[in-house]
Amino acid sequence: MADIQTRIAADADDGLAPPRHVAIIMDGNGRWANRRGLPRTIGHRMGVEALRRTVQAAIEFGIPYLTIYTFSSENWSRPASEVNELMGMMKRFVRKDLAELHRNGVKVRVIGEREGIDPELLALIEEAEGLTAANDRLTLVVAFNYGSRFEIAKAARKLAEKAARGAIDPATITPETFAAELDTSGIPDPDLVIRTSGEIRLSNFLLWQAAYAELVFMDAYWPEFGRELFAQALAEYRSRDRRYGGLSTRSHSMKAQQS
Ligand code: IPE
Ligand code: IPE
Ligand code: MG
Repeated sequence: MADIQTRIAADADDGLAPPRHVAIIMDGNGRWANRRGLPRTIGHRMGVEALRRTVQAAIEFGIPYLTIYTFSSENWSRPASEVNELMGMMKRFVRKDLAELHRNGVKVRVIGEREGIDPELLALIEEAEGLTAANDRLTLVVAFNYGSRFEIAKAARKLAEKAARGAIDPATITPETFAAELDTSGIPDPDLVIRTSGEIRLSNFLLWQAAYAELVFMDAYWPEFGRELFAQALAEYRSRDRRYGGLSTRSHSMKAQQS
């Protein structure tokens, strides 16, 4: 609660302070390619370029936490050829970009279900997390094989197991102790969630964590995203009025209320 009070005070000026954590649903690779008569694969490849630009921009904008939705637990329902392509790209991304991410002070943290992931990819994920563990310029949270409902169910299961063996009293379970069992434990909640491609839904992304996030939906397809659209989303965020269930603390709306 104290955290929310501090944020309200910080947000009280003309515009919001920059977000501490931005989470992005990188959507629209397939449609971007279709529009050009290209295979979806090309859209995904261009999507990786957009991701590189976005990480650079996040560093430049001084955003401490960036979460990217790279593969959902529901994406397994796509044709095997596309799933294989996406897995291959993930491996290539880690192999190709890990050294540079590390040089740039990026700490990689992967959230999502690890069981059932190709062992080669799992090893790369562990290598990325291990190598970059001490970095602190930008934490890049990679949501891979991620789905919020399963993450929440897993947290419930862990707490139930602790209670069943007498390690905790169920009466002591609070939103804070619950959040500590989520994959995102220790990561601040996202302030801003961006989704590209014009779809207006969360698709099982950070349902618990985004309870008070500002949502920005953009019509651009993900391969078009970069510094400029990122800045546009941040400007939109800055103009929002975060009330957290309370009353507005923004000076302009206070004036409006007084007149
Ligand atoms: C987002 O683009 C990338 C992933 C989900 C992995 P899509 O592949 O969903 O592209 P559209 O939504 O079909 O255009
Ligand atoms: C969400 O996009 C998942 C990722 C961006 C990785 P989808 O394209 O899978 O979402 P839906 O199917 O349109 O809801
Ligand atoms: Mg999509």
